Amino acid sequence: MSTVVIVGAQWGDEGKGKFIDYLSDQADVVVRGQGGNNAGHTVVVGDEKYALHLIPSGILNKDCINVIGNGVVFDPVGFFSEYDALSARGIDMSGLKISARAHVVFPYHKVLDELAEDAKGDDKIGTTKKGIGPCYMDKVERTGIRICDMIKPEKFKALLKAQIDKKNHIMRSLYQHDGVSFDDIYKEYSAYAERIAPMVIDTVAAVNDALDDGKKILLEGAQGTLLDIDLGTYPYVTSSHPTSGGFTVGTGLAPNKIKQVLGITKAYTTRVGRGPFVTELNDDLGEKLSVQGAEFGVTTGRKRRCGWLDLVIVRHAVRVNGITAIAFSKLDVLSGFDEIKVCTSYTLDGKEITDFPADLDDLARCTPNYTTFKGWTEDITQCDNIDDLPEEIKTYIQFVEGFLGVPIAFISVGPKRSQTIITQELF
Ligand code: GDP
Ligand code: IMO
Ligand code: MG
Repeated sequence: MSTVVIVGAQWGDEGKGKFIDYLSDQADVVVRGQGGNNAGHTVVVGDEKYALHLIPSGILNKDCINVIGNGVVFDPVGFFSEYDALSARGIDMSGLKISARAHVVFPYHKVLDELAEDAKGDDKIGTTKKGIGPCYMDKVERTGIRICDMIKPEKFKALLKAQIDKKNHIMRSLYQHDGVSFDDIYKEYSAYAERIAPMVIDTVAAVNDALDDGKKILLEGAQGTLLDIDLGTYPYVTSSHPTSGGFTVGTGLAPNKIKQVLGITKAYTTRVGRGPFVTELNDDLGEKLSVQGAEFGVTTGRKRRCGWLDLVIVRHAVRVNGITAIAFSKLDVLSGFDEIKVCTSYTLDGKEITDFPADLDDLARCTPNYTTFKGWTEDITQCDNIDDLPEEIKTYIQFVEGFLGVPIAFISVGPKRSQTIITQELF
């Protein structure tokens, strides 16, 4: 049995894409299990850079089967724009499979995402406006339209008509919006349905069969632990479970089929969208992290908020995901700081706490308690051996590893596949 789950240990954008690409070289199957094209995963191969949103990041490895699992919300518009762009760059798309059970994102989901956000004013979440939340709402309400429904023309027509009547009523009465056209959407999406039909399979059976046949399975997490609808900073979260547990329902693989959970952890912290962020730096240091780390969103282009590494968060992530190994990313970005800080606990109303608070009002009152390390100036982007790292970095890494009690299997010193120090293989 060889199944590795990749999860983000913070608020997303930890560098998951790079490690999915790296590990997909050893895997037979790469599976997405939650989220949709709200994700933006960057893979750099040689001088070529790819931004993947809905299509699994293993697609760049031609020997891999890439699966969009049942827990994903599938936007055909986003999918085909990505599909066509990758095909035009010569990427082989023949190993791509889509779950018959996945729910479909429609234009009214995106409109409602935007209208709901606008109506919230100062309380807005800062979503990607890709219709993710509204699509998952329909799924939970048990009125959503799945891929298996969309590829049956008559059933699709009836379900879509009912949905659009209802959504138009909501848009008109609640938001004074004109609504959307059934005829236009039915026509456009019927064409998508024909195009995707050959890729649609029962991915639950296929992934389990592959595992039974001794294949290596890599599960590609999107977003990050703190964006989990249950375990994250609710309501400033996404509408799915980007934690390891989300993969069992999102792919149909039982919990005892998962061997390793790799937590991708950025050497500092970033966040896009709103919500409390205890170690955020609203000063020159934050700006320096933003510039050196090129911290701009892959999906929305928004500037990411930056701050020091928060181990209260990462420890929470280690617990709730069962993280067995860590990939420590973007360490090179910390070169050139006089000192490096790491948050090891919070102070809440005069009391030290180490558990991540459930109540966001509490979180907003927390202040960070830091352990401070001496910085370094060396450029480490060409370093491929842990022994060659400056002593200051080794001290920093050992502290993080000791604090979390989890081995750091990979240290990433640049965006390229080759810019990785490997201390442990996972497959
Ligand atoms: P993901 O959503 O977790 O896949 O991460 P994103 O792709 O949104 O953001 C990570 C960014 O950091 C991308 O631009 C990567 O190319 C880049 N990156 C990944 N690892 C490293 C690293 O070790 N050093 C540097 N400087 N950049 C990295
Ligand atoms: P990757 O996979 C960072 C954030 C949005 C917003 C919140 C809800 O690239 O790490 P949504 O559109 O999902 O309803 O937005 O979640 N968010 C992400 N932040 N990385 C992501 O994905 C994200 N996907 C969603 O910014 O705060
Ligand atoms: Mg991203």
